[in-house]
Amino acid sequence: MQIPVFRPSMGEEEIDAIAEVLRSGWLGLGPKTKEFEEKFAEFSKVNFAVGLNSATAALHLAVKALGINSGEVIVPAITFISTALAATYNNAKPVFADVYEDTLNIDVDDVKKKITKKTKAIIPVHYGGHPVEIEALLDIANEHDLRIIEDCAHACGSEYKGKPVGSFGDVGCFSFHAVKNLATGDGGMLTTNDGGIAKKVEQLRWLGIDRSTFLRSGRNNYSWYYDVMDIGYKYHMNDITAAIGLVQLRKLGKMNERRAEIVDIYNKNFGDMGWIRIPVKKDYVKSAHHNYVIKVEDRDELIAFLAEQGISTGVHYMPLYLHPIYSNVKTSAPVAEKIWKKIITLPLYPDMTPNDVNKVITSVKAFKD
Ligand SMILES: Cc1ncc(COP(=O)(O)O)c(C=O)c1O
Repeated sequence: MQIPVFRPSMGEEEIDAIAEVLRSGWLGLGPKTKEFEEKFAEFSKVNFAVGLNSATAALHLAVKALGINSGEVIVPAITFISTALAATYNNAKPVFADVYEDTLNIDVDDVKKKITKKTKAIIPVHYGGHPVEIEALLDIANEHDLRIIEDCAHACGSEYKGKPVGSFGDVGCFSFHAVKNLATGDGGMLTTNDGGIAKKVEQLRWLGIDRSTFLRSGRNNYSWYYDVMDIGYKYHMNDITAAIGLVQLRKLGKMNERRAEIVDIYNKNFGDMGWIRIPVKKDYVKSAHHNYVIKVEDRDELIAFLAEQGISTGVHYMPLYLHPIYSNVKTSAPVAEKIWKKIITLPLYPDMTPNDVNKVITSVKAFKD
């Protein structure tokens, strides 16, 4: 059987949690979503967490709730498209900063170079779960009066100097997409310490309506009246998603530990091979290890070779300005442009068996035999 790059780790507990919601008669935005939000806020050490249907929605609403509707937003050149689209959706221009060759995280010095009078915000991405240089970015943001939106899509469970990601910037955006560390199928969470932002996002996620159906439903009565305050979106989380999320949040620590174990085994086996550069981890961070990315010279040949052995791989990511949508953006990100041709994502997920891990290791080694 083919070994996938990612795979969600689901069990009977998640199935039972869904069944409970289906039997309860309340499937939409309701009590489970509220419970998940409260638990996630506690886990992230923030005052507020707002449940959404994706990190893309969280990023879109984060930029909007911060009042950004023009100007420029700095994002890393290497990330998923949602990070840049968050700016574009809000009529702002994404400006692509270069990345560090080792962590593939946004390069702080290049951010400084790319700040102009039009810059409104920076969206750093904790790539692969490895936290960015957030203290330096916060200093820059303070100096230039910029907002920081942390893209934590890869980083559920990551910490910078002992503090959870998503609690540093004005806003944090998490993804619970099917292959993420905490998976619910689709889903997202916006974290913030600012009650005004949380309130605004709660309204925007539900079509601009000021009181959700859940809030208008008491134990014995239902109040139909609401006001529509803004042009909102249908971006809220539902209770089926939240019920899976609550179980996954309880299991996250263990699942991330298993990821770390596999990363250790990979590192020990690939570390002295000469032709492979293994991922680095700074000693002041805890990584959620969302992915395992190595760097090799003959990347495309290795992808084809592993596919023949029944091993799927990925490339995360091509610099965004090489896609047609941003092809009119003139930018310089020489490291991103060089390094993306060498990166390859190997399989990593908590339910990988020792046999799966061994098969990946022996197959990679066989490439140069
Ligand atoms: C860095 C990054 N940001 C944002 C997203 C968007 O997440 P979602 O699929 O929950 O919208 C992803 C998803 O893959 C991602 O990798």
